[in-house]
Amino acid sequence: MNLLYPVSLVLLLPALVVAEVTSFNNCPQFFAKPYSQVTFPTIFHDPIYKQICQRHNNIYEYATLYNTTNRIPVYSAYKYFGRTSCTRRSGKWFIEPQLDIPDGSPDMSPEGPNIGPKQARNKDYINSGYHKGHLYPIFQVLQHCTADATFTLTNGAPQVPNFNQSAWKKIEIEIAKLLSTNPNCKGNPVYVVTGTVPGNTQINGRVNIPSYYWSAYCCLDDNNIPKMSNGYIGRNVINSNVDGPMVVAALDAILSDTNHYATLFSVFGGKC
Ligand SMILES: *[C@@H]1O[C@H](CO)[C@@H](O)[C@H](O)[C@H]1NC(C)=O
Ligand SMILES: *[C@@H]1O[C@H](CO)[C@@H](O)[C@H](O)[C@H]1NC(C)=O
Repeated sequence: MNLLYPVSLVLLLPALVVAEVTSFNNCPQFFAKPYSQVTFPTIFHDPIYKQICQRHNNIYEYATLYNTTNRIPVYSAYKYFGRTSCTRRSGKWFIEPQLDIPDGSPDMSPEGPNIGPKQARNKDYINSGYHKGHLYPIFQVLQHCTADATFTLTNGAPQVPNFNQSAWKKIEIEIAKLLSTNPNCKGNPVYVVTGTVPGNTQINGRVNIPSYYWSAYCCLDDNNIPKMSNGYIGRNVINSNVDGPMVVAALDAILSDTNHYATLFSVFGGKC
């Protein structure tokens, strides 16, 4: 079909369809810039993966790489703004219209009738015995003082309730405390990436139950020189223990091995 169009028009088309399910290049502000270079975590480029610039009420808040086959995020990346005292939230979970409807709203939205094959739905979680675990944690400040933007199913994955409420919660709080008090991080640009490693089972036959949750942060100074970084990883099971803090290179090595992504993976491009 494209052969019928003048070449110049064909070349123009990709630029015209800039939308929110498109490319992290549209929201580089959520990724660490060690040595002043925007550095994405490893991006998988197969079409089953979608790069989402998470938009809520017209404002970008963070970014997510989403696996549309497993229907869970691989990771969410965000800038750290401190622990929130503004927990304004409705508690309703959004979906990402453009995953299923190419010309759908670029804002995360309430679930509608045509939401289907490429993402998790609220009903997948009902009576599943699993929590919708947040990758971008609820209790951290989003730049615009609302927790609502973390409540999107593309930022959630099935999490064992006991893991959500004890081992992982402990780590989320420990990381947040450190980032708010450590002189290498406090007041400096801080970037966090939180991800999942898929498991072998699903809820509702549709949504993969991750085998692991992992997280890493990178604190930079005003000249974008990395000052401090660490990684953590824990099994998504009852009575889990989270491993960490460990250097990010050690987390990269774990994530790259055959029991995890089984392909070279780096959270901060080896620069933090
Ligand atoms: C994405 O989902 C596919 C299909 O289940 C799976 O084979 C692949 O490992 C997943 N990728 C990641 C990075 O989780
Ligand atoms: C997971 O734990 C957090 C507390 O760390 C809580 O706010 C959240 O509601 C829990 N998730 C679910 C679905 O209960």
